[in-house]
Amino acid sequence: MIKLIFPEEARGACAVAVTDIAFQRCIAPHCGRTYAIDEVHLRCESCGHLLDVDYDWDRLKVPQSLSEFDQSQRSSADARQRSGVWRYHSLLPFASPEALVTIGEGHTLLQPADSVARYVGLQAGGLHLQYEGMNPSGSFKDNGMAAAFTHAAMVGAKRAACASTGNTSASLAAFCSVTQQMQAIIFIGSGKIAFGKLSQALDYGALTVQIEGDFDDAMRRVREVAGKLGIYLVNSVNPFRLEGQKTVMFRVLQGLGWEVPDWVVVPGGNLGNSSSFGKAFTELHALGLIDRIPRLAVINAAGARTLYHLYEAQGLRWNGGTIQSDPVEGYFTQLDESGKRADTVATAIEINQPVNFYKCLRALEVCDGVVCEVTDQEILDGKAQVGAGGLGCEPASGASVAGAKKLREQGVIAPSDRVVCVLTGHLLKDPDATVAYHAGDQEMFDRILGSRGVERARFANRAVVVPNDLDRIVEAIESESQRN
Ligand code: F0G
Repeated sequence: MIKLIFPEEARGACAVAVTDIAFQRCIAPHCGRTYAIDEVHLRCESCGHLLDVDYDWDRLKVPQSLSEFDQSQRSSADARQRSGVWRYHSLLPFASPEALVTIGEGHTLLQPADSVARYVGLQAGGLHLQYEGMNPSGSFKDNGMAAAFTHAAMVGAKRAACASTGNTSASLAAFCSVTQQMQAIIFIGSGKIAFGKLSQALDYGALTVQIEGDFDDAMRRVREVAGKLGIYLVNSVNPFRLEGQKTVMFRVLQGLGWEVPDWVVVPGGNLGNSSSFGKAFTELHALGLIDRIPRLAVINAAGARTLYHLYEAQGLRWNGGTIQSDPVEGYFTQLDESGKRADTVATAIEINQPVNFYKCLRALEVCDGVVCEVTDQEILDGKAQVGAGGLGCEPASGASVAGAKKLREQGVIAPSDRVVCVLTGHLLKDPDATVAYHAGDQEMFDRILGSRGVERARFANRAVVVPNDLDRIVEAIESESQRN
């Protein structure tokens, strides 16, 4: 096993006073080893498990009630108060206020979406879409990146790296280009990244390393390279990333007037989001700031179904932290040996070996969670419904809506439940998938979607092709308007 410790010589003077109020702790209850907040470890040195950022809440000033967050912020002149991450600083207090880095992340929307609710099978008013596409780099990743980047700056990192299916890399590249504080080094698999995302990394000036293979290969390599060269790693093995991602749920609660929904539904790839949501709710509940925890549904693409397989089919559980590594490692080895690669049109979640697997099991336990898998056909139909009834999203985000619909049909979600589907990324991240679905160009459909088992675009909105003739154009508009 590769041990990843940030080399001493690459750490600069810590910009803030380090106290023991915030620290890092191994997630394995039998270990629980702690580390100082200014250290950089991607796993526990004693037992190899992931770390959490943890706090001595008794010694911290926490809000008495969540409604305290209502008095401020968007009008404040202080960029950190306006940040949708740092305005909840007291719930992720690992750095001092002067150390916080922001590029304007987290100004996102909780959209009520009745037409999507109808599609899913929920009552009017029952479905909200948490739209994360309004982040500066167009996906939820900026929430976590604000926190990881802050930590990287705290420890004096000069270079930061990630492997990515495209959004983490776009986010890291954006933080580096806006702040000019670090160089971004990104690892991507060949042909495995949507062009919208690749164009961001290139335009923001990231050092882009494309390797033969997929995300799982790139992830393995970037860990090795980061360890060897002392580069700060910002993938979600980094516990600070997950601190920032907790704020997605804080904003959901705030959008609902601090009422807890019945369900939060989220796509699962590397399982950072689901893990961080579980941590957010655990902490809010322990602090007495919410009185119940919502249920969590994590949605895998059928072509990248590790969590579904191990959780639903094999029945693997967190079991209070009695971590069973053998079935997981065995399954990963089996996937590698059989050459079975993740394959889905939702390239953002095309991942076979999620790094946050155990943290996600813990979140599922805390949130009485379920895992569901959806086909690429279901993902694209769900995405088209989001587009027609909301701000649109990239394919991976369509998985939340497709998953909610399936769980509704299975009777797991009730028609009267209050459900929040997280839309993780902007529609324009992957225009090829959207155009292939709608346009009616058979060659494009077959190349991008047909090879993934998508048979038809049920909700296609075709362009109407007309000669450049006024009468024919008017006629076409009239007849199409009537048809709709
Ligand atoms: N949705 C989008 C749009 C994503 O980009 C990702 C992950 C996920 C969902 C899955 O989230 O990993 O927290 O379960 N994208 C990573 C990347 C892997 O490299 O951009 P998760």
